[in-house]
Amino acid sequence: MCSGAIRLAIVVWSIGCLSTIMAHRILACEPSPGHSHWNVMSAVLESLVAVGHEVMCVTMHPATDRLAAHPNYTHVDMSSMAIGSLQTARDMNYAHVMKVFRSNAFMVGLATARALYVCKYLLDMPEIRDILDGRGPAFDAVVMESLHSECMSALPDRLGVPAIYVIPSPPVNWMPVATGAPDHPSYLGAMLSDRPTPVTFGHRLANALVYAHTTLVRWYNDAGRDHRWPEHRHTMVFVNTHHSVEPGRPMGPNVLEIGGIHLNRPLEPIPRDLADVLDSSNEFGVIVFTFGSLVAMNTLPDDVLDKFKIVFSQLPQTVIWKYENDTMPDKPENVVLCKWLPQRAILHHPNVKLFISHGGMSGVYEVVEAGVPVLGMPLFYDQPRNIQNLVDLGMALSMKINNLTHTALSEAINRIIKDKSFSENAKRVSSLYRDRPMTPSESVVYWVEYLIRHGTEADIRPLSADASWTSHFMLDMCVAMVTALLIIWFVTRAVLHVALNKSIQSDVK
Ligand SMILES: *[C@@H]1O[C@H](CO)[C@@H](O)[C@H](O)[C@H]1NC(C)=O
Ligand SMILES: *[C@@H]1O[C@H](CO)[C@@H](O)[C@H](O)[C@H]1NC(C)=O
Ligand SMILES: *[C@@H]1O[C@H](CO)[C@@H](O)[C@H](O)[C@H]1NC(C)=O
Repeated sequence: MCSGAIRLAIVVWSIGCLSTIMAHRILACEPSPGHSHWNVMSAVLESLVAVGHEVMCVTMHPATDRLAAHPNYTHVDMSSMAIGSLQTARDMNYAHVMKVFRSNAFMVGLATARALYVCKYLLDMPEIRDILDGRGPAFDAVVMESLHSECMSALPDRLGVPAIYVIPSPPVNWMPVATGAPDHPSYLGAMLSDRPTPVTFGHRLANALVYAHTTLVRWYNDAGRDHRWPEHRHTMVFVNTHHSVEPGRPMGPNVLEIGGIHLNRPLEPIPRDLADVLDSSNEFGVIVFTFGSLVAMNTLPDDVLDKFKIVFSQLPQTVIWKYENDTMPDKPENVVLCKWLPQRAILHHPNVKLFISHGGMSGVYEVVEAGVPVLGMPLFYDQPRNIQNLVDLGMALSMKINNLTHTALSEAINRIIKDKSFSENAKRVSSLYRDRPMTPSESVVYWVEYLIRHGTEADIRPLSADASWTSHFMLDMCVAMVTALLIIWFVTRAVLHVALNKSIQSDVK
């Protein structure tokens, strides 16, 4: 009892010391309007303020409760920028979303143009101009999202402080080259490829085309900009992947996998009525069906909604469906509608047997953590590859929503629920995902402090990042070796020629 109290006092004292000794000022920028992007960035920032650092963040998203409540967090609102498709949107019309994100080829150009626009807007804000001109507060590091343009690199570059890039998705196209990691489309799936691991000739051809297209579009849009990925040694990328879910790829020490960092938050409470549905389910359990926050399910085409309703009505399970109306025409008896789901808490309920999902990154980590099998219906962007990862791990099946039939849908649902291998694999992946030396939050805090502590001495950039392409492909070596071989060949020939001539002449004599 007494020793416990002493130990507690020591822990409290040492935490107090740590936070007073190491408190840093961090400038954060999340210029993207996507909720899922803010979900990752806010979790990173929550980790930093929780250990005593001061954070100032420029974003158009409202601060999360944990950030807003924190005395060392300052919110700079850039929502004045929100125009057209650059708004923080929720529950959007399905047809509209599918039109905006109609193809990944189209997405690349749009995403690069948008990234440049929001970045320029941000750099021109009075608060940021003051900081860049030395009139504002000083900062020890910059934490920012920079997805499809290098424009944001201006900030850490001008301030001369460590740069930390937060990528809320799998690695984007510029990242491997900038961090010195190998980037080979022969075995590494491009982020906008449907497949994380290209296997057949067809996959690899498609992947190579996506890779070439992304590279060209980004190069064209971003070419001639003032700012490039900083040459500093104290530059790091936090990427929202984890090797239990995403195929392992070569990365230097300047890349940190923070996959699922938003799970550092406590589980939200489940509302009473939903908890009753979950607790009182029959032995067949519950299916959870949602396409996340971006798409309003009540705007799905009627024929698609009808297929879901007909198939669900024939199932013995209860279906909890994220749906934006209180009522639904012809709603099956076993369907429970809910406008908003505390999704992660629900997935942890032991009666949940299946998650039907679009494959957004946040939901993928929530379902992996909970160990529940998935029926994926990816809509756009990184979702097809996110779902394909789960299919490759044996914990999911994937279907195209625009090619849905009653039979295929009902077969897929029944197969995942009856074939125990899906839930066994989900549990296996979950235990691999949870087994880590440090939580993603702890790693984030450690590495941000490490970069600030050591500055440019923090030499975490692989040598490959500095190698010229001639030395990377050993062209100079090849030239040297071929030259050497040629010299040896010519010299030998000349020597033999002279020697032979001499012996012929002496024979003649
Ligand atoms: C806020 O930051 C200061 C240092 O700037 C630190 O001493 C203090 O502990 C922090 N407060 C909290 C609640 O973390
Ligand atoms: C569903 O809600 C939307 C608004 O979110 C409304 O326009 C529509 O009429 C509602 N439909 C039904 C069937 O209640
Ligand atoms: C459409 O669905 C059918 C039956 O489920 C399947 O055989 C076919 O491959 C699907 N087509 C596409 C383009 O996904």
